[in-house]
Amino acid sequence: METRVDEIAERIYRLSTFLPAVGPSGFTFNQFLVDAKEPLLFHCGQRALFPAVAQAVARVLDVRRLRWIAFSHVEADECGALGEWLAAAPGATVTHGAVGCAIWLNDQAPRPPARWPTARPLDLGGRRVQRLDTPHVPHCWDAGLLYEETTGTLFCSDLFTHVGDPPALTEGDILGPAIAAERQFGYTALTPATGATIRRLAELRPRTVAVMHGSSFTGDAAPVLGRLAEFYDDLLQKGTAARGA
Ligand SMILES: [Fe+2]
Ligand SMILES: [Fe+2]
Repeated sequence: METRVDEIAERIYRLSTFLPAVGPSGFTFNQFLVDAKEPLLFHCGQRALFPAVAQAVARVLDVRRLRWIAFSHVEADECGALGEWLAAAPGATVTHGAVGCAIWLNDQAPRPPARWPTARPLDLGGRRVQRLDTPHVPHCWDAGLLYEETTGTLFCSDLFTHVGDPPALTEGDILGPAIAAERQFGYTALTPATGATIRRLAELRPRTVAVMHGSSFTGDAAPVLGRLAEFYDDLLQKGTAARGA
């Protein structure tokens, strides 16, 4: 198992492991490393991936320098290897939203978590990251997404999930493959707030979208997010029976 490293925005690295046996055509599991004075890792990966992902981080910086570990929501690919990362980086703190700390981390984290400050971005020294609470988007009550202000990078977790092992970064279409994957897996927790939450992300006008499964996107992301919101609004109106249509 090998994890490849690609810089998708200045000092923002995509760590990608392709697992060919997952799903019909394989699946990438991507973590993102923000290289700053206080480096931040977004998503831990599953425990089985930890040795390969840790080697990938080490190609960019000393793993022991990691200061922050964050993830969108509690699932194995987002935070399974949290214990391994905290052991490898003694100065690292896991940080999550208020709900995630209350329902999971305060009890389960090997070290006390820090609640992400909601009123201001987290200043990493050279990079500034804000967290947006996005309950149930893509899924799970504790879900939240990150936005790095300097590079205009939205870390969108499972939004835009698509299958296969496509290029690390594309200016091309990620919406079509994402809609196909949604129809196939039905992974989004569709609620009346889904479309509005995604439109809130579009208002940030991201220039890069860091996708957890599939290619990341570079370019004007607001219209793409807008069309994704429309797709979910439409799906909600038609009812979940249309999901596989
Ligand atoms: Fe997920
Ligand atoms: Fe995921």
